[in-house]
Amino acid sequence: MQRRIIRKLELETFLSKVKAHPSPKPSLEQYTIPSDVAATILHIAAYTYDDLIGKTVLDLGCGTGRLAIGAAYLGAQHVVGVDIDKKAIKTAIKNSSMFNLKEKIEWATADLDAVHGKFDTVLQNPPFGVQKRGADRKFLIKALQVGKKIYSLHKSLHKEKSFMEKLKKVKVMPVSPSPFIRRLTKENGGEIKATYAMLMKIPHMFPFHTKEKHEFIVELYVINSESY
Ligand SMILES: C[S@@+](CC[C@H](N)C(=O)[O-])C[C@H]1O[C@@H](n2cnc3c(N)ncnc32)[C@H](O)[C@@H]1O
Repeated sequence: MQRRIIRKLELETFLSKVKAHPSPKPSLEQYTIPSDVAATILHIAAYTYDDLIGKTVLDLGCGTGRLAIGAAYLGAQHVVGVDIDKKAIKTAIKNSSMFNLKEKIEWATADLDAVHGKFDTVLQNPPFGVQKRGADRKFLIKALQVGKKIYSLHKSLHKEKSFMEKLKKVKVMPVSPSPFIRRLTKENGGEIKATYAMLMKIPHMFPFHTKEKHEFIVELYVINSESY
């Protein structure tokens, strides 16, 4: 178990070495979470809410494993990473071997519908539903069924330039949850404890990206599941 507190910058540097998907599919919105955003999420989960160290963790739609590997690195007791895509899991296995964290993480190629069991903490960066409307909805419902505490990343409805400028300075800011996620969470036995806005910058990688770098606001939902 990791006892030393890992600084966010150190975590970000570590996570930047976790390799991205070699051939991401637009239909599955397979972009890899930027290491700064991943480090912020993991830091909040580990040190603001004490939901990682010594806990069982599920990374739903794990891709190449940045969140799962980060959770194991920070001291999770056991981590499971699930993704529907074989190539993503193959890369995740290589990534976890590279950091000697293979023993702590179990990888599975499966649709999230096949996931059962109970986990202390679920981390997820689901498809935002840009390609398939409502794709993130399915993830949130599953997370509420199998997790006690959920950290779920969603695209924000905020697009204002002034808000983006503010986030560039402060990095993370508490905001009100979106009515859609609030309703969905409540309907499925959860309660939102906090919502944090942050900026996400991803390189141009899919035909529907019009700029060289795509920058937008995302929101991290910290949720307690009451159906656990
Ligand atoms: C936005 S990517 C995030 C990947 C990774 N968690 C990260 O943050 O770098 C979403 C991931 O969800 C996976 N995915 C999409 N639909 C899925 C499903 N029905 N079951 C399991 N995984 C799925 C995709 O293959 C993709 O790797």
